[in-house]
Amino acid sequence: VLGAVLFDLDGVITDTAELHYQAWKDLADELGIPFDREHNEKLKGVDRMTSLKLILQNGDRTYSPEEMEKLAHSKNERYKELLTTLTPEALLPGVRKLLKALRRDGIRTALASASRNAPTVLDRLGVTDLFDYVADAGAVALQKPDAEIFLNAAAGVGVHPLRCIGIEDAEAGVISIHRAGMPAVGIGTTETLPDADHHVDSPADLTPALLREWMNEFP
Ligand code: BG6
Ligand code: MG
Repeated sequence: VLGAVLFDLDGVITDTAELHYQAWKDLADELGIPFDREHNEKLKGVDRMTSLKLILQNGDRTYSPEEMEKLAHSKNERYKELLTTLTPEALLPGVRKLLKALRRDGIRTALASASRNAPTVLDRLGVTDLFDYVADAGAVALQKPDAEIFLNAAAGVGVHPLRCIGIEDAEAGVISIHRAGMPAVGIGTTETLPDADHHVDSPADLTPALLREWMNEFP
């Protein structure tokens, strides 16, 4: 029986991937490191410091831990600036409707995002009150693809992991959901998310009935 739906944020609820890209791109340009949208694909679902390391790999020098802290901070300041442009219109189609339908059916909702900016993003999108719980990305020791953030989200709504389903747009997140023992719905294709149990193009294609059905057929 489906007890809770656990959502990723970036790429599932809104398309902040582009804002993350712009913030990283500004930093990479300043450092003279090549970085493009294709490379940015590899950063989806990946936490801030790991993302920075993946970018610095393409440079020709090494950075001290202090320098890296500064660079990560500077990217985040830029990202926060860009977040001020975010409005409820940036909510992906169908998200609000799905969240409301889940609530009507007594199914809990939680956010399991790697982003420490998640509460700000939810506020700007105007959907904070439609989530029963927001897992704290800053309190997570093991990032996606580890199961921790999805297990935290399940615990936060008081639902056993085996009664939860996760929704992700990144392969690291899909693996994380599976490690937590849950079925994974991929916003994407079998090509971009080979491990997801089910695929849809958009959250608008999801209903509580469909999620219930997928939960019940999961081994
Ligand atoms: C994920 C994004 O949701 O959050 C990543 O997909 C991002 O691109 C990560 O790096 C961490 O976000 P933040 O806001 O804590 O830097
Ligand atoms: Mg994502």
